[in-house]
Amino acid sequence: LMEEDAEEEYLFKVVIIGDSAVGKSNLLSRYARNEFNLHSKATIGVEFQTQSMDIDGKEVKAQIWDTAGQERFRAVTSAYYRGAFGALLVYDISRCSTFDSISRWLDELNTHSETTVARMLVGNKCDLEALREVTVDEGKTLAEAQGLFFIETSALDSTNVKAAFEIVIKEIY
Ligand code: GTP
Ligand code: MG
Repeated sequence: LMEEDAEEEYLFKVVIIGDSAVGKSNLLSRYARNEFNLHSKATIGVEFQTQSMDIDGKEVKAQIWDTAGQERFRAVTSAYYRGAFGALLVYDISRCSTFDSISRWLDELNTHSETTVARMLVGNKCDLEALREVTVDEGKTLAEAQGLFFIETSALDSTNVKAAFEIVIKEIY
């Protein structure tokens, strides 16, 4: 019983949000299973993975939730955000429309979640440097203005994927 209690104490819910095709599902599969899918299908509804990490010698578990960026495939919004302590707001550095949407995702997060303590702005697909439409400075500036952490990642080549999740989880802990 003691063990069960101890485990539950360190189970944190983290949600991933952002427009369709920015790479949310691939960030999660890269982090949780070290897998990347070049032809992944759009997420329908909600999926989640539980991932453990070690902080100060304690096992901390994050239950990471991934939903559809496409409105028509999204599950009941309030349930998705309920109890989330961390959030990753993801855009694609090669599509500025996905960066412009971040303020909308932030509004939705603010509306539905009173518990979120750690928020990370994630510029994904940083391997696509030649196609870049959003500068690092633009990402940083938005993050500073909104009180978010900021990182650029690539689910394709693994750059910063672990860091993106673990900075959020450590901040919650
Ligand atoms: P929805 O489920 O529709 O909301 O999309 P999503 O945000 O989950 O996107 P998903 O992970 O399915 O990725 C969409 C496409 O982008 C896929 O073809 C991926 O292979 C590709 N992709 C994801 N991450 C990266 C990345 O870091 N670099 C590159 N070059 N492509 C990526
Ligand atoms: Mg998806």
